[in-house]
Formats: sequence, C-alpha cells, structure tokens
Amino acid sequence: MPEKNPHPLFTQEFAADPYPAYGWLREHAPVHRTTLPSGVDAWLVTRYADARQALADPRLSKDPARHSARAHSRGRIGIPGERTADLVSHLLNIDPPDHTRLRRLVSAAFTPRRVAEFAPRVRELTDRLIDGFASRGSADLIAEFAFPLPIYAICDMLGVPRTDQDDFRDWAGMMLHTPGAGGTGSRGGVARSVKRMRAYLAELIHRKRADPGDDLISGLIQASDHGEHLSEKEAAAMAFILLFAGFETTVNLVGNGTLALLRDDAERTRLQRSLDRGETELLATAVEELLRYDGPVELATWRFATEPLRLGGTEVAPGDAVLVVLAAADRDPERFDRPDVLDLGRTSNPHLGFGHGIHYCIGAPLARLEGRTALAALLGRLPDLALAVPPEELRWRGGLIMRGLRALPVTFTPE
Ligand code: HEM
Repeated sequence: MPEKNPHPLFTQEFAADPYPAYGWLREHAPVHRTTLPSGVDAWLVTRYADARQALADPRLSKDPARHSARAHSRGRIGIPGERTADLVSHLLNIDPPDHTRLRRLVSAAFTPRRVAEFAPRVRELTDRLIDGFASRGSADLIAEFAFPLPIYAICDMLGVPRTDQDDFRDWAGMMLHTPGAGGTGSRGGVARSVKRMRAYLAELIHRKRADPGDDLISGLIQASDHGEHLSEKEAAAMAFILLFAGFETTVNLVGNGTLALLRDDAERTRLQRSLDRGETELLATAVEELLRYDGPVELATWRFATEPLRLGGTEVAPGDAVLVVLAAADRDPERFDRPDVLDLGRTSNPHLGFGHGIHYCIGAPLARLEGRTALAALLGRLPDLALAVPPEELRWRGGLIMRGLRALPVTFTPE
C-alpha cells in the first residue's frame, strides 16, 4: 500500500460516512486485506469491475461451513442464533447445484406478478403508518415507518394472520436493536427471537399444507420443479430467509433514501414536482439512484475462495474470506459519472445494490415496490418534511453488512 489510509476503517466517523475511506481504498488498495472488528481477516473489494467479477465468480463459495471453519466457529458469520446445520437450506449460504434447485422453487412462488398484485396493500400499509403520526408534526421515521413497513408487508405476503403480526414486529425489533421497537439487542434476546420466529413459521407451514390459501407460504409448499417440491423444513427456512433478508434492507432503503432526499433540496423538489404532476418515471429512477448513492447493503454477504484466484491483480488464497463492498463499487468513477452526486434522473445506473450473479436479490421487485410507495407517500402527504436534527447528530447502526440509521427524527406541518 503506498501510504496509510487517512480515513481509518470501522470508527464512528467511518460509520457516519464510509465513502472517503472507500474512495481511498478504491484508488490505492482496491483489493485490501484487513482485520475486521470481529477479529476475522478478509479481503475488501472496492472497485466496480472487480466487485462485479467477484459476485459472479463460481470459485468464490457462499458456504461458510465448507470454507471457513475458523471464521464460522467464532459465530461471526450468518444469522444470530443459527447453528451451521440449520443454514444448509438458506439461499445466501449455499452454492449450486443446491442453490439452483432451491432458487428455482422459490422463484416459482415469489413471482413479480404476485408482487405487483400486492401494490394496493403496500399503499394501504404506508398510509396507515403515516396516519399514526401525521397529526403530531414530528416522528422518528425509522421506528414509526421504515421499520414496521417491511415486516407487515412480508408477513402479509407470506400469509401470517394480522393478529399475529405484532409478534413478528417485536421479534424483528429485537433483531434490529431499534429503541422504541422493543429491541434490547442482547445476544440471547436476538437468538430467542430468531428461534420463536422460526418455530412460528414451521407451525404455520404445517397448517398451510393442510389448508392452503392464496399466500406465499402456500405457494412455496406447492411450488414444483421437475416434480420436486420443497420439504417442510426447507419451506420454513425459505420463509425465514425471505423475512430476514427483506427486513433490515428495506428499513435502510426507506431510511437512507429519505435522508438523502432531505439533505438535497434541489433533488427532493425535483421529485416532489414530478409526483405532483402524476408522473412515475422519476420515482422509478430515484429509487435506483438512492440504492446506488447510499444503499442498504454496504457489503455483500461473505464469500470464500475455493481455489487460488486473482482479483484486481491481487492473489487470493483458498479459504480466504472476500467481502465485496457494494457501497464502494457503486461510487466508482470508472463506472459512474459524478458518482458522489445524487442525480435522481440518472439513466445509466447498473448499480450493485441488489448484488449480481446467481445470488442477485430475489426480493428486488418487492423492495422496489415498497421503496417507491414509501417515498411517494411521505413526500405527497408531508410536503414540508424536514430533519429535526443536524445530519451530524444522526446515529448509524454500525455493523458490517448493512448500512442504516438508528433513528430519523423529522418535523412537518401536522395533517
Ligand atoms: C439477496 C439486497 C430486499 C430477499 C440479496 C443480495 C443483496 C440484496 C445485495 C445479494 C447478497 C450477496 O450476493 O451476498 C437487498 C436490498 C433490498 C432487499 C438492497 C431492499 C432495498 C429484499 C426483500 C427480500 C429479499 C424485500 C424478500 C422478501 C433476498 C434473498 C436473497 C437476497 C432471499 C438471497 C438470494 C440468493 O442467494 O439467491 N439482497 N435486498 N431481499 N435478497 Fe435482497
């Protein structure tokens, strides 16, 4: 490395604004070996071209049990409270051919058509959540809006009865460590929440098998590919991973996205005017730009080299952990014109916010629907929405994979 990074990684300042540190790495050490706060060593990949290559490289495996007994045994990879044996059926932790089979089966149930049909329900949900605070003139948009929205949405889609959805809200709150959402954040508490959620889903799947409905869980049970079906255990694991993968990510899309708009008057006004004219084109490109500019997933999930490979001119040894920094790749000036500028109308925008390759986000259509609906509803109903504190006072959750705010205090004229 030519010199020391003037922007140290994994500090408080880094959590608030990691982009200068990533910019330096991209330029001076694009495939950079570092020790993570957990003590695990990993390569950080920060250039767009290298990131895309790594995400699609079959020599980088997703199965932690096979390739990093050392890192995994410390319990620092994967979902809290999960044991290795339970991870087998999770899309994000398996390689082909198992991944191919499971992904086909889920895709048969979780179709773009099912998501499109869900649009009115997402609008109703967003409105109900805004009704909860619109008369008050102030709110925390994370606890009161961005956090409950994806939980209720995916519960509805899966077929969790409304009367049970608040349990999910509490379990998820524990996982997110959100004050005001019931989270204490203790390791034991998180593990207990994960266990309860999984037990509930297993029981629900059992019931839906006997009495199917029009919901995603019934779809997962019925999905077939060349005569194959998901086992009950696989369907439960799948329902759980949909909830888990679609929750904090969407919280962060709404949180980071709203913040970016509130910090850029010109772009926010541009979007507001376009929505007032009843247009939808700018809203669609705006959500893509917000995913690129300050996306919910800072680093793609873990990958491990199964054989020696070269990445951006650097030798990566078998067994090495590789972390693809989506946030850095999506600000790469080699790929994006004026990458640090928020341009809601950006048209050439092949961002990596949903990943790339065989693990590309299966929930992207739902995430886009939720993101567009949430932003349009907020700007439409609360046109003078403003930050209640200076941006420097906002606190970020910190954590390796995700990038999101702990709270987003706002003010507005009460409805
Ligand atoms: C995979 C981002 C919402 C389900 C991924 C990956 C990314 C991502 C980057 C690939 C990770 C990797 O390769 O390591 C996002 C973002 C979202 C979002 C930014 C919201 C804005 C959702 C939703 C769902 C979901 C709503 C489901 C309800 C999944 C699943 C995978 C995945 C199951 C694993 C796919 C596979 O391994 O084949 N997501 N996601 N995501 N996402 Fe999302």
